[in-house]
Amino acid sequence: MKQSGIFITFEGMDGSGKTTQMHRLADRLRAAGRTVLVTAEPGGPPIARAIRRIILDAANTEMSSVAEVLLYFASRAQNVDQWIRPALERGEVVLSDRFTDSSVVYQGVGRGLGVATILDLDRIACRGLKPDLTILVDVDPEPSLARARARNAAEPHPETRLDDESMDFHRRVHAAYHALAAAEPGRIKIIDGRAPIEDIERSVWEVVAPHV
Ligand code: TMP
Repeated sequence: MKQSGIFITFEGMDGSGKTTQMHRLADRLRAAGRTVLVTAEPGGPPIARAIRRIILDAANTEMSSVAEVLLYFASRAQNVDQWIRPALERGEVVLSDRFTDSSVVYQGVGRGLGVATILDLDRIACRGLKPDLTILVDVDPEPSLARARARNAAEPHPETRLDDESMDFHRRVHAAYHALAAAEPGRIKIIDGRAPIEDIERSVWEVVAPHV
């Protein structure tokens, strides 16, 4: 196994099962002797998690699209500076549940802010840090949204602002993920999220193993 830092992100629609897969990958990597930092966006260190609560609070219906995207990048900047970059410098594997690709598809395309704006913000917040590898857990928007909404309905403090968006919004996000993967096939690997969990886990490992 190599001992240099590697940055791997998981992307996909809400309810795609990406979080489960990320944790399974973390277990495999640790079993293989790697030190792994697991983070999730928006979130990570305490300041970034506090920003997450503001962004996803279902009561914040008046939040403007620009305020929203700046908060995502404020959270990301904190995560990059406090957790991700130091871990990579220590030679660890960093796994992040979502990163800038989420802002490209949800805010750039879904909210219509434009991809160029998102990439400008990325330059400020991440200063050149890009994932080495991105796993896109692909599921159709209809079943994944239904799953995410059912999960939130069962939560005492649900995070629902994006789940409340229309089906049309989620279809645009889904198409944008595919466009991203087509534009960067070397970095972004699509994994079929409809397969049984164990099969998906194996597929993720096949993609990741040569990089670690
Ligand atoms: P999660 O359910 O994977 O924790 O993500 C929370 C929500 O935040 C999800 O609906 C996607 C959304 N999101 C964005 O819209 N833009 C972003 O940059 C990130 C990181 C998440």
